[in-house]
Amino acid sequence: MRRWQVTLAIFKPDCISVPFVRKGVRELIVREEFLILRWKRLLLNQKEASAFYGEHVDKFFFSRLVTFMCSGPIEIYLLARENAISKWRTLLGGSKVFKVVHTEPDSVRGSYGLTDTRNVVHGSDSEVTARKEIEFFFPEFDWDQWETLVRSESV
Ligand code: TYD
Ligand code: MG
Repeated sequence: MRRWQVTLAIFKPDCISVPFVRKGVRELIVREEFLILRWKRLLLNQKEASAFYGEHVDKFFFSRLVTFMCSGPIEIYLLARENAISKWRTLLGGSKVFKVVHTEPDSVRGSYGLTDTRNVVHGSDSEVTARKEIEFFFPEFDWDQWETLVRSESV
């Protein structure tokens, strides 16, 4: 069954600062037939980055993660596709770069990731998270009409 979903992708500062990497990830979006419904480039401040990653506030890596996410421009993409959430997560590869370079060497993180923090890209991990994350960055997004936007049949 066709099951269209939306998901949130973030190109992190290490992705943006290397044009070759940014280009590779953008080409992947096109090749894998995601539709880009919105995108924007911005700088996060500490408060915004802490709020976005709030679930990790007690983790050992939290302050390193927040500092990194504020260290340079990032790009936020609202992507649509069939099974967009799991497809994007699969393309990214797992969270731990040092594992991923062995287990999923062709994934984005396996190809371009430097450390567990500097891991190139973000992807929402469930429908509930995707909704929360999209509302965080695109509060104006219309949840009642986006499926009309992604239809390709004409009348
Ligand atoms: P997490 O939600 O576990 O991973 P994912 O991005 O795959 O959903 O962690 C969120 C971010 O926190 C992760 O992208 C990078 C950072 N992080 C670290 O810096 N060190 C770590 O050991 C882990 C697990 C995550
Ligand atoms: Mg996560």
